[in-house]
Parts: sequence; C-alpha cells; structure tokens
Amino acid sequence: MKKVSEAAVVEYEEAGGPDVLRLVTRPLPEPGPGEVTVEVITMGLNHIDGFVRSGAEQEWDDAFPRRSGSCFAGTVIAAGPGTSGFPVGSDVVGHLRSGAQASHVTISVDRLVRKPRSVTFETAGGLYLAGTTALDILDELKIGAGDTIVISAAAGGVGSMEAQIAMHRGARVIGTCGDRNFDYLRQIGVKPVRYGEGIVTRIRALAPNGVDAFIDNFGQDGREVAEALGVPGPKFRSSADRRDREVALLSDSPDAVAHGTSQLRAVVALAEKRAVSPLVSGFYPLADVAEAYDDLQRLHSRGKVLLATHPVNPRRIRKAREVIESR
Ligand SMILES: NC(=O)c1ccc[n+]([C@@H]2O[C@H](COP(=O)([O-])OP(=O)(O)OC[C@H]3O[C@@H](n4cnc5c(N)ncnc54)[C@H](OP(=O)(O)O)[C@@H]3O)[C@@H](O)[C@H]2O)c1
Repeated sequence: MKKVSEAAVVEYEEAGGPDVLRLVTRPLPEPGPGEVTVEVITMGLNHIDGFVRSGAEQEWDDAFPRRSGSCFAGTVIAAGPGTSGFPVGSDVVGHLRSGAQASHVTISVDRLVRKPRSVTFETAGGLYLAGTTALDILDELKIGAGDTIVISAAAGGVGSMEAQIAMHRGARVIGTCGDRNFDYLRQIGVKPVRYGEGIVTRIRALAPNGVDAFIDNFGQDGREVAEALGVPGPKFRSSADRRDREVALLSDSPDAVAHGTSQLRAVVALAEKRAVSPLVSGFYPLADVAEAYDDLQRLHSRGKVLLATHPVNPRRIRKAREVIESR
C-alpha cells in the first residue's frame, strides 16, 4: 500500500460561521504504538461542532487553529505495534474530540470499533455522537418496555436514533415534527405529532394514560410541555442536558474515551441488526464542508448530514425535500 504522508484537513483560525472553515494540507503522523492510520470515507456533522466553531460553546478553550468534526468511518491503511484487532484493510467506525473531518487520521485504536460489512459507510460515519448521545440519555432515563416517551425533533439526527433505540427496547414513542416528516416517522413506527400551539392537547390524545418520559432535543417550549403532561422532573431531559452529554462524550479523558467507544460499539451493534437505520439527509464532498453545515443549520434534516471523500458524486442533485419545499 502506498505510504501517505499528508492529509487534507478541515481547520479554522478564528471563531465564526461555516465560511471560516478551510480544507488545508497537513503532515500526517505515522502510527505509533497502539495507533493506526485510517483513510476516512465518511464523516458526520453535529450541531455542537457549530456551537464550538461560533464561540457559543464557551467552555471549549482548545487552541487555534482548530479542527472540525468528531465522527467518522474509514479503512485502516497503516498500523503501529499493538494494534492486532485493527489490521491494514479493516473497516472501522471511530471518534475524536475534533479533527474527524479529514482525508486521513492517525488515531489510537481505543477510539475505534470494527465496522460490520452490513453497515454502510454512509450510515457508519454519522453514528458516533448522535448514537452515543441517544444511548446515554435513554440509559439515564431507564427507558424500557411499556414506557410511553415523547421525543422532540424526532426526525432529526439525534431524535431519530433515540426513537428507534427506545422502540427497540419496547417503548412507545411519540415524536414531534413538522408536516413533512409525518410519513417518515410513521414508517419507522413513531406516532408523529405536530410541534407548536396546541401540542399538549395533541399529545394527550395520543397518550390518554400519560407520558412516562420526555426528551427535548429542540429546546424551546419542551419543559413547559413536559410539565403540562405531568412528566416527573427526573424523567425530563432538556436540550441543555443533551449539550452537557455531548460535551462529556467529546472529552479526551481516558474514562470518557473508553465510555464513548463502548457506547459506539453498542450503537454499531444496533445498526448491524437494523434496530437503528439512520437516514442520510445530505451527503457532501469533504471540500463542500461549509455548504454541508449551512444545510444542517437550516434545522430540517431528516437523519444525518454527512461529508465523504472519494465515493461522492460532486454533481449537485436536488433533494426531494427541496423540490417539495420550493412549491
Ligand atoms: N442546546 C444544545 O446545546 C443543543 C445541542 C445539540 C443540539 N441541539 C438542538 O437540538 C435540535 C435537534 O438536534 P439534531 O442534532 O437532531 O438536529 P437536526 O438533525 O438538525 O434536527 C432537525 C430536526 O429538527 C426538527 N425541528 C425543526 N423545528 C422544530 C421545532 N420547532 N420543534 C421541534 N422540532 C423541530 C426538524 O423537523 P421538521 O423538518 O419536521 O420541522 C428536523 O427533523 C437542533 O435544533 C439543535 O440545534 C441543541
């Protein structure tokens, strides 16, 4: 295999919108003990990347230039000593605090799990932060068989994974969305409910025996709605709680990395048995990273927005949702 000594890396020198992102060439370190070099195929985008980049995420004090993205899938192209579970040629799913948006990464195998053949690269690259956040929150709330749970933004990147995992555990899921997502949520087994004025009445009609837990991804009137539905405080998770969970999952501490990898392994296993099948809402070449974040920030993704390296057809193809929404 040809040795690769440089990588194309998404970086930024100052806080700002997606336009501060640059695709630059940087030296690629050779893998040391316990490390491998991965040729990255797909990378997921998350809102927290944007909050960090814009400066809204004030606790993030990593030095500039900063790198972007935490979720990726790819193929091992070089392996250091002590990496026997990840030989050259193995397909992997992985996570980083930042810097996943790159053509190649050299990374500790502690941050990787093997990608099953049946999980596509398109799915795998978006699994880490959305999937582990979903799993952590459902674990905290002890969601299981017989629970009725409301999830806001249920068709989005995180909500759609929470909904599918909760249903896999035997819960009944009511998901908030706009009209355009009713069919999608019905198809995956979620009871859709339109967000906005009158939502409490609409949820009560779908859950006459009450709601056991409420996960508010979107973060506007969620707490009031949950209180009006009689959801006990410990069974409510706000958008701010989710932010705290995501920041914890991006920590570089050894415990956090081990937890993140262990939860990623569980999410990948769920994807392998089709308990979780995230949709791809937008798929962009790595060089169009700014456009991809613009898409995410429109807040109407159905599933995940991803970047990719060589498999992407760079021709612009109008998405079905754009055709519908331009009418
Ligand atoms: N507080 C934080 O730190 C924090 C951290 C992470 C994420 N968030 C927020 O959580 C939300 C969802 O996260 P995500 O990662 O799943 O994002 P995402 O994939 O961008 O979510 C998009 C979904 O949000 C739905 N949506 C749009 N307006 C809504 C509204 N008024 N009420 C309920 N749902 C609405 C959309 O449904 P329709 O297309 O059907 O309208 C769409 O399916 C985002 O708004 C994000 O900014 C907050």
